[in-house]
Amino acid sequence: MNVSLNDKSVLITGASTGIGRACALHLDQLGFQVFAGIRKQNDAESLLQSASNRLKPIYLDILKPDMISKASQTIEEEVKNHGLYGLINNAGIVTTGPLEFVPIDSIRTQFEVNVIGQIAVTQSFLHLIRLGQGRIINISSVSGRVASPFLGPYAASKFALEALSDSMRVELKPWNIHVAVIEPGPISTPIWNKSKKVAQTMLSKLPITAKTLYGDKIKSAMNWEKKLNQSMSSPDVVVNAIEHALLSNRPRTRYRIGVNGIVADLLARLASDKIRDWLITKQRNM
Ligand SMILES: NC(=O)c1ccc[n+]([C@@H]2O[C@H](COP(=O)([O-])OP(=O)(O)OC[C@H]3O[C@@H](n4cnc5c(N)ncnc54)[C@H](OP(=O)(O)O)[C@@H]3O)[C@@H](O)[C@H]2O)c1
Repeated sequence: MNVSLNDKSVLITGASTGIGRACALHLDQLGFQVFAGIRKQNDAESLLQSASNRLKPIYLDILKPDMISKASQTIEEEVKNHGLYGLINNAGIVTTGPLEFVPIDSIRTQFEVNVIGQIAVTQSFLHLIRLGQGRIINISSVSGRVASPFLGPYAASKFALEALSDSMRVELKPWNIHVAVIEPGPISTPIWNKSKKVAQTMLSKLPITAKTLYGDKIKSAMNWEKKLNQSMSSPDVVVNAIEHALLSNRPRTRYRIGVNGIVADLLARLASDKIRDWLITKQRNM
């Protein structure tokens, strides 16, 4: 890693908590000029308290085109002809539930945030990335390789992000803009509690038929999730992969994170659908 960090700027979306926040603070420490996407003033203040005075919070809801173009203008004025060295598309949400009953609006929102928002931000910043001979890093998930039951909306959104990343990687090769995908397994961040709350509200509104049909299986899947929660990794493991994707002379196209990342990759590449289904069903005692 022999890249000089002078005048190198990165934008991280969803930097209020979890992986985004850890990444913003780490890249700030390394010497990058970090633009940290947040949506609330207290998140901006909290980041400013922990970072150097180089870090700049940027109000950025990736579903709001006006905010995206304002953020792009602001950053363009700041970075001038240095452009942007890194765009880390990290913002994301999790929607779960049996696909037969998940409200269509919830599935739409899942795709708006995890897929459409990522493209919108990328489109808006690509001219700056081209100028800065920069790199794009998309935060996917093991769920972008293997789709588990009751995680359908989330997995579908991450599969879509993987596909977009593959297309974009080849499209942007002529300008030497590298596109990497990060595929973490379970990481200890607030996303789990947030998705649990959303899932509980949704489950409480499901019709009785849904509960009769899926109740036991959802409970088994939740027990499996509880087990996973006991072995979650720290966001640092993702941050290390992001640092490599940004700074290495030979960045990878995909970063599998932790044992779960490797297992998901093997399952996706080597196991037949039937074996994968059997393993997933067995693991979750469904
Ligand atoms: N934690 C895991 O186990 C895990 C595993 C694999 C992949 N991932 C992926 O890692 C990424 C970060 O997740 P995390 O675990 O760090 O969760 P997190 O702490 O909940 O962070 C999610 C971030 O996304 C932001 N966000 C949500 N909707 C947004 C929108 N419309 N516009 C802008 N920002 C928005 C949130 O902002 P607010 O605070 O303002 O809502 C927050 O900053 C996600 O893409 C997630 O899918 C996580």
